[in-house]
Amino acid sequence: MDKWVFLNGQFVSSEQAHVSIYDHGFLYGDGAFEGIRAYNSKAFKLFEHIDRLYNSLKALGIEMPYGRKQFIANVEQLLEMNAVTNGYVRVTVTRGIALGLDPKNIKGDPTVVISSDRLSLYPKSMYENGLEVVTVATRMANPQVLEPRIKSLGKYLCNIQAKLEANQVGAGEGLMLTEDGYVAECTGDNIFFMKNGVVYTPSAHLGILEGITRLTAINLLTEMGVKVIEGTFSRFDLYTADESFLTGTAAEVIPMVKLDARLIGDGKPGPITKKLMEAFHGYIASL
Ligand SMILES: Cc1ncc(COP(=O)(O)O)c(C=O)c1O
Repeated sequence: MDKWVFLNGQFVSSEQAHVSIYDHGFLYGDGAFEGIRAYNSKAFKLFEHIDRLYNSLKALGIEMPYGRKQFIANVEQLLEMNAVTNGYVRVTVTRGIALGLDPKNIKGDPTVVISSDRLSLYPKSMYENGLEVVTVATRMANPQVLEPRIKSLGKYLCNIQAKLEANQVGAGEGLMLTEDGYVAECTGDNIFFMKNGVVYTPSAHLGILEGITRLTAINLLTEMGVKVIEGTFSRFDLYTADESFLTGTAAEVIPMVKLDARLIGDGKPGPITKKLMEAFHGYIASL
């Protein structure tokens, strides 16, 4: 057997974990998900991820058949069953099964999947030398249309389009702007920059995902005595910054040293970024 998967209340082998072709997630992207990291056999910020998932589902009007506590226990059990020490947990919940978009035709429970996988990470050299990023033409989904606090399956079509664009020019990440052209976030990461000792990051109201790693970075920087200001910024602010970095569950904290062929600062990971990376690793090790 390959590994265990939690599917609709049962632990089954991954070979037996099949989802209907009429699943609303498959047909319409009608569902929500979380990507969670495991360090030293423990899921990192598990409560926060499950809380975000349940809030996404509540807003979508999808009723989970399990309470949060039980669901957290299911994630922990899967990690144990698959002997995951350092890896990735993917939780996907869709509205359920019915052909046609009308949710009232869905009779059964939502489809609930928890799986664990190996992580595909940026190469070590990118943490040492920094990432090159390009601004992509695909805008972040308008928050008036798709609520950004719902980590919905469907919203990620924009991010996939944006990632395609970044891949086409060999960039490590794609920077997405708001409809008005302000800096929003990357395809799977939040963005920060430092100017004159102060760290800045786009405000949540712009429609970014309020990343769990973003909040961890803000807290660690604050503990380090570095002021963090949330606001509305243009690419000019990034081009003229002293340092920049991205945060995300998979990437953790990674320096961004080039944007649209402009070096950020001296084009090397900056001292505050390096200090934050160290603090982040220390924080994980302390858990
Ligand atoms: C669009 C987007 N922004 C930011 C993030 C970072 O969020 P987190 O730190 O919760 O992984 C992610 C990752 O899930 C993402 O998909």
